[in-house]
Amino acid sequence: MLGKDPKKQIVKYRESQCTLKRLIMRRNRYKLIVFALVLVYVYHFFGVGDYVQSKNFDSDFNYPLNVDIRPIVQAILDGQKPNVKPINYYPYKFLSNYRQCSVVNKPDLVIIVKSAIDHFGHRDAIRKTYGKPHVQGYNVKTFFFLGVDNASSDVQKNITKEMTEFKDIIQMSFRDSYFNNTIKTVMSFRWIFQHCAEAQHYLFTDDDMYISVQNLLKYVSDVTTASERDGILFAGYVFKSAPQRFRSSKWRVSLEEYPWDKWPPYVTAGAYVVSNKAMKMLYVGSLFVKHFRFDDIYLGIVAKKMGIVPTHCPHFHFYKKPYEREVYSDVIASHGYSNHDELIRVWNEQNAL
Ligand SMILES: *[C@@H]1O[C@H](CO)[C@@H](O)[C@H](O)[C@H]1NC(C)=O
Ligand SMILES: *[C@@H]1O[C@H](CO)[C@@H](O)[C@H](O)[C@H]1NC(C)=O
Ligand SMILES: *[C@@H]1O[C@H](CO)[C@@H](O)[C@H](O)[C@H]1NC(C)=O
Repeated sequence: MLGKDPKKQIVKYRESQCTLKRLIMRRNRYKLIVFALVLVYVYHFFGVGDYVQSKNFDSDFNYPLNVDIRPIVQAILDGQKPNVKPINYYPYKFLSNYRQCSVVNKPDLVIIVKSAIDHFGHRDAIRKTYGKPHVQGYNVKTFFFLGVDNASSDVQKNITKEMTEFKDIIQMSFRDSYFNNTIKTVMSFRWIFQHCAEAQHYLFTDDDMYISVQNLLKYVSDVTTASERDGILFAGYVFKSAPQRFRSSKWRVSLEEYPWDKWPPYVTAGAYVVSNKAMKMLYVGSLFVKHFRFDDIYLGIVAKKMGIVPTHCPHFHFYKKPYEREVYSDVIASHGYSNHDELIRVWNEQNAL
């Protein structure tokens, strides 16, 4: 192995060994850097820091306004003027207003449909199904709540026509978009609080849901005293979950926006029912609770601050419940009905039973 000059060979050999070592070291350093970069990326991407730094919901929840808002709300409901000013009053108007909720003809149930402005077909299908005014002797009223888009567009012209024809659309003066859903929800609470405050119960629903008014009325008439305490009911499909901190997520919530590690229990926005008393407490309560852009979580926060515990009702389906005649006999609400013919077919079949 060794040549003429063993010493030289040894030196060379040592040199090459050194180079090799250096190479390995450099490669290791390279690996280390890549590893560190991946770590930083993962840390950033998955919002690990946000998870680590979030505050404990159970011990530290104190969403603004940081006072007990219950006595303030009670004072307002009792007709007094509290000395605390509202912090959350949306400055929008009702552009149409059909006063169909007379005190004389008190509705048993009012259905508030959160509808998208161009969903003409959805609204038609609802009018032909669960939005019908009389259900087995009960007085039911249905209203559609919309924002605005472009006042001179064809869509708006058609909405104006639809409003004149059916008188069941309440249009409001903010832009209709997903992240304005909290505004839409609270403004529709305001409308019923001001113009339709006499009903026993209120069902809030999206325009792509299947609803059984019979099953709902049955549920609210025999809810146990455990879920409806003192006439306060806020029920539907209840989620107990945590904020998403992933950078890429549409649902990402920063620590600045919401610093706690859990959401309060909340009823998913697809469909939920509130009793008359709960409707008033949630609306007046919302005036003292800072805006939050997810409407269902916002109501969960208001409920928590008002001491209202949401009731989970297994007959509200957050995911579409696959249709079978018998299986649907106790369904109150199910997602996944943006196909109008399907909604009409299912509703007719259930109502013929
Ligand atoms: C509203 O719609 C009209 C007609 O389609 C169009 O000319 C106008 O530019 C639109 N305005 C805005 C603000 O989008
Ligand atoms: C408005 O209504 C007319 C007549 O029903 C229809 O032809 C048109 O497609 C509708 N336009 C929009 C934007 O919905
Ligand atoms: C919500 O509505 C307001 C008022 O119309 C508008 O200025 C704002 O851009 C809307 N927000 C979103 C996210 O669309």
